[in-house]
Amino acid sequence: MEVNKIYNEDCLVGLKKIPDNSIDLVLIDPPYDICTTGGKKGNDKLSHDIMKLEKELIDNNLVSSFDIRVLDEIVRVMKDINIYIWCNARQIPMYIKYFNLELQCKLEVVVWGKTNPIPLFSNKYMNDKEYCLYFRKDGYCKPQNYEDAKSIYISKANVEDKKKYQHPTIKPLELIRRLIRNSSKENDLVLDCFLGSGTTAVACILENRKYIGFEINKKYFDTANKRILETKKDGD
Ligand SMILES: C[S@@+](CC[C@H](N)C(=O)[O-])C[C@H]1O[C@@H](n2cnc3c(N)ncnc32)[C@H](O)[C@@H]1O
Repeated sequence: MEVNKIYNEDCLVGLKKIPDNSIDLVLIDPPYDICTTGGKKGNDKLSHDIMKLEKELIDNNLVSSFDIRVLDEIVRVMKDINIYIWCNARQIPMYIKYFNLELQCKLEVVVWGKTNPIPLFSNKYMNDKEYCLYFRKDGYCKPQNYEDAKSIYISKANVEDKKKYQHPTIKPLELIRRLIRNSSKENDLVLDCFLGSGTTAVACILENRKYIGFEINKKYFDTANKRILETKKDGD
């Protein structure tokens, strides 16, 4: 399989073409397992915004989790277990069971804290953070400076990038670059099986890493390719 290329296909199919023990770092952001409200909301602006976001997530198949067999394939292709996985609180037990209990990996948690969450807190805490679990066996984690070593990343919710790249769950490029710097070396090969708008591939280009990415949705795949081309052009 060619590297520094992204593929518009189901990652479960694409992963089969990657040889064993060939990937240095995996960074994935699979669809979250989300409970939607089923549209039962009021007529105010906030309810309207939430329903719009939920509709976008449902229309683009971003509310239900993924085929767990992907994890077996990912483990097969990694040289050592060295993987970041974005998830919500409901998915944490599943990953702990798979990577800690079954594969005896070490766990660290990186948190993206948002300074401007949607102000919804009736009977619950606000949705102002996202979790990124880092599992490794012998994997590599060597932050080079104080900022990169922080496990909590604080920023605004990524409204500008969401609009610009038309992806509802885009992650902050700066944070993805940090994770890649910390857990891989220059020219290492990084895999993202759920590429979305291409943030991981762009971060790899900027950090001089090789990449392979899969994205099943043609619209997002085209966006990712456009971002990759723009990044390469800016670097020339
Ligand atoms: C949470 S988003 C990733 C967003 C990405 N981190 C970014 O910054 O743009 C998950 C992506 O995985 C894609 N996806 C879902 N199932 C997939 C599969 N089986 N194979 C490849 N891509 C898949 C979805 O279309 C979606 O764009």
